[in-house]
Amino acid sequence: MTILFYFSILIDVKRKLWYNKNMNYDELVQTAIKMTERSYAPYSHFHVGAALLDKNGHIWTGCNVENAAYGPSNCAERTAVFKAVSEGVREFEAIAIVGGPEAADGTVTIQDFCPPCGVCRQVLSEFCTRDFKIVLANGNGEQKVFTLAQLLPESFSLK
Ligand code: THU
Repeated sequence: MTILFYFSILIDVKRKLWYNKNMNYDELVQTAIKMTERSYAPYSHFHVGAALLDKNGHIWTGCNVENAAYGPSNCAERTAVFKAVSEGVREFEAIAIVGGPEAADGTVTIQDFCPPCGVCRQVLSEFCTRDFKIVLANGNGEQKVFTLAQLLPESFSLK
């Protein structure tokens, strides 16, 4: 009986590892790319899009929203988190983030990976577990997947 119990736990852990390794984030990345079109970035001309996947499979979108006074500007990731939390959702699986500069003709080109800033990492850590996935994509269609623990080790928490 005890052996069976430990065996079922082992199977469960293996299934989880397999699922995470083979998770397909393409839809999440495509949604984040689409969100760069909504970005309001007249000062930096750098457009960022984010797509946040909650535990129920719903995707919350966000873009950066800048301000003439600079300080009140909000990053794409925080826009997505705040939209979800303000609608009562606090449990998340993953976020995709992309960003790129705007050319003189107004078009945005995703070039390099766009990792989240320190403030956004801290905001994510308020609601997300250490194994929450942060998915980055570049202009060549490549993806990098990090856990929150990797991008924000030894994070501050009052809990
Ligand atoms: N930005 C984001 O939206 N997310 C980040 O994690 C890094 C920076 C935005 C803020 C600002 O509007 C523009 O990118 C340039 O810094």
